[in-house]
Amino acid sequence: MKTKEINLQEGDEQIDLVQSTKPILIENLNFRQQKHLETLIASYTQRTKTSKRLAQNYRSVLADPRGSEGFYPLIKEIVYPIISKHALNSKMWDVDDNEYIDIAMGFGVNLFGHNPSFIRDALAERLEQGIQIGPQSDLAGEVAELVSDLTGKERVAFINTGTEAVMTAIRIARAATGRNKIVLFSNSYHGHFDGALVKAQKTEGNTYTVPAYLGVSPNIAEDVLVLDYGHSLSLEVIKAHKQELAAVIVEPVQSRQPDLQPKEFLQQLRQLTKESEIVLIFDEIITGFRIHLGGAQAWFGVEADIATYGKIVGGGMPIGIIAGKASYMDRIDGGMWNYGDGSFPRGETTLLSGTFCKHPLAMAAARVVLKHLKNQGPTLQQQLNQRTSQFVKKLNTYFEFEEIPIKLANFGSIFNSVPLSNSDPSVNSDSSEQATLINYLLYHHLIDKGVYLRLSFSALSTAHTDEDLDFIIQAVKDSVKELQGGGFLPIPSEQIG
Ligand SMILES: Cc1ncc(COP(=O)(O)O)c(C=O)c1O
Repeated sequence: MKTKEINLQEGDEQIDLVQSTKPILIENLNFRQQKHLETLIASYTQRTKTSKRLAQNYRSVLADPRGSEGFYPLIKEIVYPIISKHALNSKMWDVDDNEYIDIAMGFGVNLFGHNPSFIRDALAERLEQGIQIGPQSDLAGEVAELVSDLTGKERVAFINTGTEAVMTAIRIARAATGRNKIVLFSNSYHGHFDGALVKAQKTEGNTYTVPAYLGVSPNIAEDVLVLDYGHSLSLEVIKAHKQELAAVIVEPVQSRQPDLQPKEFLQQLRQLTKESEIVLIFDEIITGFRIHLGGAQAWFGVEADIATYGKIVGGGMPIGIIAGKASYMDRIDGGMWNYGDGSFPRGETTLLSGTFCKHPLAMAAARVVLKHLKNQGPTLQQQLNQRTSQFVKKLNTYFEFEEIPIKLANFGSIFNSVPLSNSDPSVNSDSSEQATLINYLLYHHLIDKGVYLRLSFSALSTAHTDEDLDFIIQAVKDSVKELQGGGFLPIPSEQIG
């Protein structure tokens, strides 16, 4: 898709945003664009003034990346997080009592929308019993059985977050194989465990793994190979390093690029890791229970050795789950043994620990979520996936018609914008840079119109109604019109003059 020239009114100077050096400053904008920005900032800051005031009030004491997330000089005055007060079903209300249709949905936690009564009741009931940390949880066994039932995994362990689940799964793989190196793939996200905060850097034809963030030790990077996802060459690299590899961890469909769904690659990877006795870990923290009751593994017909889950299962409470084949999970506790005979925990174990593991509220929420999923059966996911595909298709048709350089892709009920260059080789990187700016402005327009979203992740829940989806589509159309009027988006050639 090629963008048409911005339709300028008399007196406007043509500014080529595509060619602008980053970051674009107010002086780089023409009069009409400046006016548009002023109007957006005035409306946004008036509407969400308490969020802004609280961000400023507490900035000196609250060290929080959310406070300056997406900082861009051009829109500095509207860089602050929207602070929520309460939420129900598909909606959220902020501290200024503005109502939003929420499509961030707790970064993928709220499959059933906000505050569903079946989870709320289970939590309220549990709270009456007090919060016992220390004694064994009375619900852990039952929740483990439910997870095993739905995922087909033999054994299940609980931890507090997705990050911890990934960290533990990797530790188990190293313990079981006696090898140190792992493979992960570019663009994946596995949480904020140091061992996964690395990236590939290409220098003079060679690829190295380097820390992705300040403070991550280069020593950690030495144990990780970062390969291209979905590329057959990556399988060759794995084959070449098979003697040193403890595990390959995949985010089967990366929430950052949901259009990349490499079924065949995953099946080949399964075959290769099996032959090489490398532990295959599926990070199903987003895809688990969402794309299919059996997660991405059931969707792609691939059974991993270990899988990690979180988000949805906790029903809003923090949770991380490691589930897998007994031969690996036995590294946690020595495996099966019985009373009254000579059996005992066998094999060398590694550490699984945490004060809050199997937290009573997390277990109560997980039990009711898993029971609900089991009772609903596969139609819950099938219907939601289909509704999301239709919704995304409607928006893409509109973007194409208006020649807007934005394209969405979905994997089941999660969706995200994808670089146009992924699907259209004629689009150059300048255009995708322009698309980033447009995404950014569109994001603030949508919030201003009552759609709460995150730039990096969107999801629908079973609580979203057809009216909600129509509201979002209308908000997108109204925002696009305003951006066209403000000279930030091209007006399709047929609509000019
Ligand atoms: C695929 C994946 N893995 C791991 C994590 C980390 O989970 P948590 O934020 O619960 O630590 C996330 C979080 O977004 C995720 O998307």
